[in-house]
Amino acid sequence: MHAIIIGSAAGGGVPQWNCRCPVCRMAWEGDPQVKHRTQSSLAVSPDGARWVLINASPDLRQQIVATPALHPGDGLRHSPIAAVVLTNGDVDHIGGLLTMREGHRFGLYGTKEILDALAGNRIFDVLSRQSVLRQATELDQSFEPVDGLSVTLFPVPGKVPLWQEGAETDIGAATETTVGAMIEAGGRRLAYIPGCAAVSDALRSRLRGIDALLFDGTVLENDDLMRTGVGSKTGWRMGHVPMNGDEGSIAALSGVPVRQRVFVHINNTNPVLIENSIERRRVEQAGWMIAHDGMVISL
Ligand code: MLT
Ligand code: MN
Ligand code: ZN
Repeated sequence: MHAIIIGSAAGGGVPQWNCRCPVCRMAWEGDPQVKHRTQSSLAVSPDGARWVLINASPDLRQQIVATPALHPGDGLRHSPIAAVVLTNGDVDHIGGLLTMREGHRFGLYGTKEILDALAGNRIFDVLSRQSVLRQATELDQSFEPVDGLSVTLFPVPGKVPLWQEGAETDIGAATETTVGAMIEAGGRRLAYIPGCAAVSDALRSRLRGIDALLFDGTVLENDDLMRTGVGSKTGWRMGHVPMNGDEGSIAALSGVPVRQRVFVHINNTNPVLIENSIERRRVEQAGWMIAHDGMVISL
């Protein structure tokens, strides 16, 4: 299996267009300790020729330009991207579908709930039903978006996308709203979970023995947004378990045997994005890598 993290940041990217939090400020100033990052997306392939995107970020055009494996390579109109699989309906995961509106034929996979969210937004009808085949998938049932690569979507604790929130927001239910993707090819298994509100026993047992875990690295602590002064929401309220803390992902996943652990979907407020920071060093000492754009996962 080939896997390239084409976007490693959470919504907004690094730097975010309107942000001067400590990390964004370093990025605006060109400080080499903070790499620029685009919004979260993963490209996987069984053979290096046919690719599946897990989520389509608003930065997709820039990500394709930066990734030679995703360039058109044949005839007048072509793309190696054969399918897109969605893990939720967040703007940073679906916005890039609007980039893919030029008549290219591809499969679009997601749970019924996620595809219903698209169907309720007429702007996505710009993807014609003749060329873009929308296919609702069942939880825990594998499908092959391209031959030789299978994907199984499974529920993780989450919440509805921000743009669908009403007065009350239910957080932490494991439903069709927010899912992880277990990707298998060539005898290797990789789990991609860019949004997850809590690490449950069900999740721990599912991840045992996989080759690579790419996991929600949005916030370091539950109160990152408050501490940096950019907002009042906790990680929990946004549907993102922090890295640190007794119930944080580092501790909660420490006993689960996994060959490689990589944080993805990292918010620009997270100090682990500063390369020489103490926070970065601690996370790496705990056995985790911090994803950057273009990072190739060797499997
Ligand atoms: C998130 O990951 O919490 C979302 O991307 C938030 C958003 O839609 O802006
Ligand atoms: Mn997000
Ligand atoms: Zn920022």
